[in-house]
Amino acid sequence: MRVLEQCFINGGFMEITQMKAEHYDEVYALWSITSKRALRADDDRQGIERFLGRNEGLSQIAVMDGKIVGTVLAGHDGRRGFLYHVAVLPEYRRHGIAAKMVSKAIESLENEGIKKTNIFVFKDNPLGQAFWPTIGWEERDDLSVYQFEVKGD
Ligand SMILES: CC(C)(COP(=O)(O)OP(=O)(O)OC[C@H]1O[C@@H](n2cnc3c(N)ncnc32)[C@H](O)[C@@H]1OP(=O)(O)O)[C@@H](O)C(=O)NCCC(=O)NCCS
Repeated sequence: MRVLEQCFINGGFMEITQMKAEHYDEVYALWSITSKRALRADDDRQGIERFLGRNEGLSQIAVMDGKIVGTVLAGHDGRRGFLYHVAVLPEYRRHGIAAKMVSKAIESLENEGIKKTNIFVFKDNPLGQAFWPTIGWEERDDLSVYQFEVKGD
């Protein structure tokens, strides 16, 4: 089913549209409010441009009256999809904006043949932990995340 990309929320017009490199400054300002803890060096302009370039058309923003109020970064490696920075400005929350952006991202991934998508959620992030199960995402308690980091430059 095609995801509805436009609707009225609290008397305002909300649209979900593709995130582009030109949105970087406004998107980063939003993350500085919503997602400080999750921001990494990879979130600099170059990192985000690289991510968007490798995953063209998959990441989404929610725009209300010309202002970016929500984001989701979406990408895949040819096998699994991954979402990052699912975030909505505090004053726009609980109107289904994140749920709609995620549905749109999943639809875009599905169009590229990706059927399974993952997200990392801090165990002590109550907002994230409350959100994902209610939109049908299943927590995998049979897996651990292992990570290897190349140190230095
Ligand atoms: C998590 C977040 C993206 C949710 O955005 P949102 O637009 O408010 O989410 P939605 O309105 O689409 O919520 C869908 C459902 O999720 C659940 N939900 C969302 N936020 C919730 C909360 N704070 N408490 C309990 N349930 C919540 C509800 O069931 C909600 O439906 P309802 O409002 O009809 O009850 C937002 O709170 C946010 O930006 N948090 C800070 C960044 C963050 O932690 N992101 C998640 C990273 S994993």
